[in-house]
Amino acid sequence: MPRLASKDVLRADQFTKDEIATVMELAREYEKALKEGRELNVMTGLVLSTLFYEPSTRTRLSFETAMLRLGGQVISVAEAKSSSASKGESLHDTIKTVEGYADVIVIRHPQIGAAQEAAQATDRPILNAGDGAGQHPTQSLLDLYTILKEKGTADGLTITLAGDLKNGRTVHSLALLLANFSVRFVFAAPRALRMPQEILDQLRNKAIAVQETEDLGEGLAQSDVCYMTRIQRERFDDPAEYDRLKDLYVLTREQVEAAKDGIIIMHPLPRVNEIATDVDTYPGAAYFRQSANGVPVRMALLALVTGRA
Ligand code: NCD
Repeated sequence: MPRLASKDVLRADQFTKDEIATVMELAREYEKALKEGRELNVMTGLVLSTLFYEPSTRTRLSFETAMLRLGGQVISVAEAKSSSASKGESLHDTIKTVEGYADVIVIRHPQIGAAQEAAQATDRPILNAGDGAGQHPTQSLLDLYTILKEKGTADGLTITLAGDLKNGRTVHSLALLLANFSVRFVFAAPRALRMPQEILDQLRNKAIAVQETEDLGEGLAQSDVCYMTRIQRERFDDPAEYDRLKDLYVLTREQVEAAKDGIIIMHPLPRVNEIATDVDTYPGAAYFRQSANGVPVRMALLALVTGRA
């Protein structure tokens, strides 16, 4: 079994296929334990610190739930921007401080590379919970877990990623993680929000087929998974540009009914207008199941990086 002890989780493309399988297996075990109401004490005596410099509901709360469910404890700064950072403290100094309090640190920050910078400041495992428009590796692991649960396998699937592929860190990480499987991608995005070239290049190197289109319908007709994303308002310099693009893709119930049989709809959430609310009752609407999967997957990650599993 690959050892993840003391490792940081910074990017989705850092994982080997064996490591991915280890996380998935352990997450399945923990999900089963949770279902059976078994109390776990894997993390007894350990403290997790969550440091969030950007808003979060699911990521922070599911990490904290994960730690508590494993018998560990949590100290949390939900609005890290208004803590010492507002007084001018560097990220380095904040991390040096927090390492004196906590055994493992989860960080979300608006700057690309911030988690990497945090990792350089400490020997404590750092988990990247989103670095600006960079990556969101733990989300991609729970997304993969969801796909495996809903579809049985990732191999052979056609997967549409739609919306803000330029600024969306969830889709950057998910595309790279899924490149470990034999998938085909449809990237549905307006020209201005295309998937970054660097990621397209990495996929090409792994011989992953990618079809780029501006037409979401093209993806829906052939996909087993449609992963919608929010247009990332906070990443736009020009509000008029945001207004022009924000409602370009609104997935309707009619579109879902006409899509490929058995399609599942995913979304990292929060949703704004990208998915009409009457899609929620479609059996393949997986986004709330997806967000719940964050708990067992993050339990697995926390236990692995702290060497408790
Ligand atoms: C996303 C994020 O913060 O990157 N949400 C999440 O973590 N589940 C997606 C988003 O904000 O649109």
